[in-house]
Amino acid sequence: MNPALKNLLRPHYIDLQGYVSAGMESDKSAEKIFLNANENPYELPDLEGFNRYPEPQPKALAAAYAKAYDIAPDQIVMTRGADEAIVILTKLFCEPTPNQHPREGGDLQQTTGDAVLVCPPTFGMYGVDAKAMPSNVVEVPLLKENGTFALDKEKIIETALSYTPSPHRGEGRGGGASIKLIYICSPNNPTGTSFPHDQIAEICREVEGQAVVILDETYAEFSSQGSMTARLADHPNLIILRTLSKSYSMAGMRMGCFISGDTNFIALVKAKALDAYPLPQASVEAALHALSGDIRPIAKANIEKLIAERERLIPLLSGNPLVRHIYPSDANFLLIEMEKAGEFIKFATQNNVVIRDFSTKPYTEDCIRLSIGTPEQNNLVLKLLNDFAP
Ligand SMILES: Cc1ncc(COP(=O)(O)O)c(C=O)c1O
Repeated sequence: MNPALKNLLRPHYIDLQGYVSAGMESDKSAEKIFLNANENPYELPDLEGFNRYPEPQPKALAAAYAKAYDIAPDQIVMTRGADEAIVILTKLFCEPTPNQHPREGGDLQQTTGDAVLVCPPTFGMYGVDAKAMPSNVVEVPLLKENGTFALDKEKIIETALSYTPSPHRGEGRGGGASIKLIYICSPNNPTGTSFPHDQIAEICREVEGQAVVILDETYAEFSSQGSMTARLADHPNLIILRTLSKSYSMAGMRMGCFISGDTNFIALVKAKALDAYPLPQASVEAALHALSGDIRPIAKANIEKLIAERERLIPLLSGNPLVRHIYPSDANFLLIEMEKAGEFIKFATQNNVVIRDFSTKPYTEDCIRLSIGTPEQNNLVLKLLNDFAP
């Protein structure tokens, strides 16, 4: 495993013996009789095949992901959505802070636990999963400039390097906590902003050996700059999250993955850090279908429709006198700053249209986040905005 990951991994994972499930011990050949996993031999009508535990990391699905993301199958850990990938990565890298509640923005030198660095406003689960360890959360907010958001690259690097790694790693390192994970979400939820790949690459280079950069590409398919998977080989400390939830319309199936250039790291994770049978059979079958040659072009066409709708909506929404600003978006949603944001959300809810309220959250004051729907749904939002008389 490359030292940029190995030296930051919680050390007990190196020696940990992972669970070997019955499913891992034997293939599922049709001619075999399986009496090894305490499964029920009777299949229920219309639920055939579900009496058997699924393959833990199905090879056919890894191959399908690999084709879709233009990587090798052994670079992927398949998870229940990108959400579970975040939980697993937190568990792998962040040492808990015993008997101590981590404080946001607190003095890390006073604690022995690890930390994650997040750039708010961003996806809330990075911080929630870190606090659940419990580990610390350090914020380096996005910069609001020229009507959009930008990474505070210098501050991210400076902050990540200014905390000495945890003492448990030894080797003459100092005390205090260490920022183990830097989360960059691009396109970012809830702002919709894509951050330049060169900036992300520079952060990876500068913090290599000190921190792992987790690039969340949940919305990459909607963005003009696409994915950074082609640059994984250049950055041993870069891990990329992908999901079928958005671009493949599969949120209900909970299928995602994380990707690394280091196949030894991926093998370690599969052997030691996953649940025994993490991926439900129905979800695996649905994912294989979604990624098949028949369905991928349909998913691609839907992405194009959503991007076209996003672009159609921007001038129409901007024309409303209540709308102050629409942040440039590379995703399937818009962050809209407006007068009476909270009241409009209530008005929309009364009319059975549910929109996410960010108006009272830090960094997104007076903002709502509108997911792009079908043209009819979007037209209804435009009508509601015109009818709204605060
Ligand atoms: C930025 C970001 N990351 C991860 C997720 C979780 O995605 P999944 O459905 O794959 O768990 C979301 C869900 O909205 C998200 O916005």
